[in-house]
Amino acid sequence: MQTLKLTIAEQCVERLHALNPDGAPTAADLAAMLEYPPDPKMGDLALPCFKLSKTMRRSPIQIAAAIADGFACAGVARAEAVNGYFNLYLDPTWLGDTVLPRILKDREKYGSSDIGAGKEVVLDYSSPNVAKPFHIGHLGTTVIGHSLKCLHEFAGYHCTGVNHLGDWGTQFGKMIVAYRKWGNREQIEQGGIDELVALYVKFHEEAEKDPALEDEARAEFTKLEHKDAENYALWQWFLDISLKEYKITYGQLGIEFDSYMGESHYFDKAPAIAAELNEKGLLTIDDGASIVNLDAYNMPPCLILKRDGSTIYPVRDIAAAFYRKNTYNFDKCIYVTSAGQSLHFAQCFKVVELMGYEWAKNLIHVPYGTVSVNGAKLATRTGNVVLLKDLFAMAIEKVRVIMDEKNPDLPNKDEVAEAVSVGAIVFNYLSNNRNRDINFILEDALSFEGNTGPYAQYTYARTCSILEKAGEIADCAPAITTPEEADLLKTLARFNERVMAALEEYEPSYIIRYILEVCAAFNRFYHNCPILTAEDAQIRATRVRLAEATGIVLGNAFGLVCMKKTEKI
Ligand code: ARG
Repeated sequence: MQTLKLTIAEQCVERLHALNPDGAPTAADLAAMLEYPPDPKMGDLALPCFKLSKTMRRSPIQIAAAIADGFACAGVARAEAVNGYFNLYLDPTWLGDTVLPRILKDREKYGSSDIGAGKEVVLDYSSPNVAKPFHIGHLGTTVIGHSLKCLHEFAGYHCTGVNHLGDWGTQFGKMIVAYRKWGNREQIEQGGIDELVALYVKFHEEAEKDPALEDEARAEFTKLEHKDAENYALWQWFLDISLKEYKITYGQLGIEFDSYMGESHYFDKAPAIAAELNEKGLLTIDDGASIVNLDAYNMPPCLILKRDGSTIYPVRDIAAAFYRKNTYNFDKCIYVTSAGQSLHFAQCFKVVELMGYEWAKNLIHVPYGTVSVNGAKLATRTGNVVLLKDLFAMAIEKVRVIMDEKNPDLPNKDEVAEAVSVGAIVFNYLSNNRNRDINFILEDALSFEGNTGPYAQYTYARTCSILEKAGEIADCAPAITTPEEADLLKTLARFNERVMAALEEYEPSYIIRYILEVCAAFNRFYHNCPILTAEDAQIRATRVRLAEATGIVLGNAFGLVCMKKTEKI
C-alpha cells in the first residue's frame, strides 16, 4: 500500500522539479523529511524546507511557497507555507472514506507490508542456560527477540526463531557429579529447575571444601562430550526438565520457537572450524589454547579451543552461524542478548569476516540494558535473582485480586488475569528504549491507571464491548463530524509507519508508544463523542466502526509485542 506520506511527497517533488530540476530530492527521501508537528495548529504534516535549501539553491521560504502554491492532493484539505515550513491539513472526509474502510477490510493484515517478501531472517533469542535460573535478566532477550520476530513477519519476512539453549559446557559435568552424590530423581521431577539449581549450588559449596570434585566434574563432562550413554541420558533429562518449565513461561507469553538447537549441537563442529582457521593462517596457539588474535581490531583474542581441546562459548557460536547460513541461507541473523555480550558477538562476527565470508555483515547483535528490580517485594529463592515464573505468578495473583473486586462475574478469570498481568509486565518492560538500564517496579506495571498494559488492555476491551452492544449497524458511508474522530483516524493511519520505524531500529518500544497514542486518541473520542447513544444513524454507525477499527489496530499492535488481547476484563 502506498502511504499517504509518499503520495504527498511525489506531489511535492513534482513542484520542486519545476523550481530546480537538478536539486530536487527523490520522493522517498522527501517522504522521510515529512514530520508530524507537535502542535496540530501547525498542520497534520509538515515539511521543514531548510534542509532542501542547499541543493535547491533557494531560500526555505521560497521553497515552501513554491510547493504550497495551488497544492492539490487527495486527502489534503489545506496546505500553506509558513516561515520556511510547508504545512498540510488532512481532510477528515477523506480519512473516513479511505483509512476507515481500509482497516476494516485488511483487519489482521492492517499495518503489515511485504517489503521483506522472499527474505529469510533467523532470530536467536531467549536462550536460557539449562539447569540455571530463568530470571528477569532473560525477560529482555525473550520479549525483545519475539517482538522483533513478529515485526519482521508482519513486514513479510520469513522468520525462524531459534532458542540457542545454553545446554553445553563444564557445568553439566558438575551437575552429573552432584546428582550422583546428592540428587533424588523424584524430588527433581517434582521441583524442576529449582532443584537442579539447588544441586548446582551444593556442588559449589562442596567443591570449596574438596577441590577434587572439580576434576571429577571435568572428567564427567569429557565423558559426556564422548557421548557416554549414562551421562548423555542424565544430560538429556536435565534438558527435558528445564524445557518443560521454560515452555510454561513461553506459553504465558504466547511464544513458540521454531528450533531449540542449543550449544550442544555445535561442539562437535568446532574442530572443522579450528582446522579452517588454521588453514587460513588465523589460528595461533597461546599457552596451549587456540585463539584468533584480534589486536588489529582493538579487541581481545577470540578463544577457539581450550588447552584440553574442549570447546567454549565463542566457537560454538561461530559454528552455529555457519550451520544457520547453510540451513536457512539467511539474509539477516539477529542475536538478542544483554549489552554485556556485545564484545563476544563483535569477536565472533569478526572471526567469520576474517575467514572471508562476506555474509558476516549480516550477523547483527541487538543489545539491551540491564534490569534491576525493587519497589516490589519479590520473593527471591536463589539469592538476589528474581525468577520469571515467580514474577509472573505474583503478578497474576495481584491482578486476580483486582479482578475479583472489579468484575467478580467474569467467566474466564484465570485466562484474563494471566493475559493482563503478563501483558502488563511486558508492556512496562518494553516501554523503554531497549538500551536503557531500567528499574522494574511491579506495582507500577500492574496499575490500571497511567500509561500501563492494563490501561491498554482495558481500552481494547472497551472497543469490544461497544461492538457487542451496538448490534447490527447501518450500512452507510462514514460521516466524520468531530475533531476527535479525525484525530483518531490520523493516529490509526500511522500504524504502518511505526512498524517500519520499529523494524529499522530494532526498537519494540516504538510499538508500545504507538499503542499509548492510539489509546489516548480513542479515549478522547470515547469521552467526547456519544457512540451508542448517537441519534443520527450515520454518525452512530461511523463511531461504532471507529471503535471496531481501533480494536483491530490495538489487537494487531499487541500481537507485535507479546501481549494477548482480552475482550473483557
Ligand atoms: N545462553 C546465553 C546466556 O544466557 C545466551 C545465548 C545467546 N545466544 C547466542 N547465540 N550466544 O547468557
